[in-house]
Amino acid sequence: MVSALVEMKNIHKWFGSVHALKGVDFYVNPSEIVGLVGDNGAGKSTLIKILTGVIPADKGEIYFNGKKISFSSPREARDNGIETIYQEQALADDLSVTRNMFLGKEIQKSIGPIKLLDHKKMKKESERILSELGLKIPSMDQEVRFCSGGEREGIAIARAMYFKAKLVILDEPTRALGVAAVRRVLSLVKELKSRGIASVFISHNLHHVYSIADRIVVLVRGEKVEDIPKKETSIRELTKLIIRR
Ligand SMILES: Nc1ncnc2c1ncn2[C@@H]1O[C@H](COP(=O)(O)OP(=O)(O)OP(=O)(O)O)[C@@H](O)[C@H]1O
Ligand SMILES: [Mg+2]
Repeated sequence: MVSALVEMKNIHKWFGSVHALKGVDFYVNPSEIVGLVGDNGAGKSTLIKILTGVIPADKGEIYFNGKKISFSSPREARDNGIETIYQEQALADDLSVTRNMFLGKEIQKSIGPIKLLDHKKMKKESERILSELGLKIPSMDQEVRFCSGGEREGIAIARAMYFKAKLVILDEPTRALGVAAVRRVLSLVKELKSRGIASVFISHNLHHVYSIADRIVVLVRGEKVEDIPKKETSIRELTKLIIRR
């Protein structure tokens, strides 16, 4: 058996009297695409927020590469190779495409004792990787707030690839995207896999999840009710599980 890249064991979370996660076990293997599904309020975002250091768990353990960890910020998770991509939050709106690609990991050049940002090199690298991925963004100097939803997703995924993330978490990446943009995002997630990068794909659209996931995990009101290879289930079965009372 391969050892898991990430393993979350017996995770509990309370928000006041709301028991949002009730002893959830969740793992992701290297290069695996895990679909995480469940109705509104099932606990999907809470689970990944705990993994990526946005909020702490009240109980439970997390292992990353076999080592017990507890990230205290998303920054720390990112430095360890876990990128999280939200439709809105992942990018800095008022910065250019290039600056977003290299945010927090800027390329520098030295002029004598002085270190400066190497804007030219970062722009060239951004152009190279985005075009390699088939993303046609009009200008690298464009502020990201003028990019479409699909372009933003693309930049965030390209960033994860460029910096060789080990795990990319996508929380509702296809919500509010058009047909062509959805297709592009789904194919980028497959591209992540082909480069050895694992991903967790959260979506209410079971067709999107089903088309790319290797394994699907279903949460119902804070409990894991299913954890099954995609090949052994169907959209119909998953729907039944999600809406069961
Ligand atoms: N910061 C918070 N304070 C209080 N309650 C919270 C907080 N975050 C989440 N919850 C509650 O925890 C439960 C799980 O929420 P969560 O956001 O994880 O659901 P989700 O599965 O991501 O749902 P959706 O599909 O709607 O995004 C919900 O009942 C929610 O109201
Ligand atoms: Mg959510």
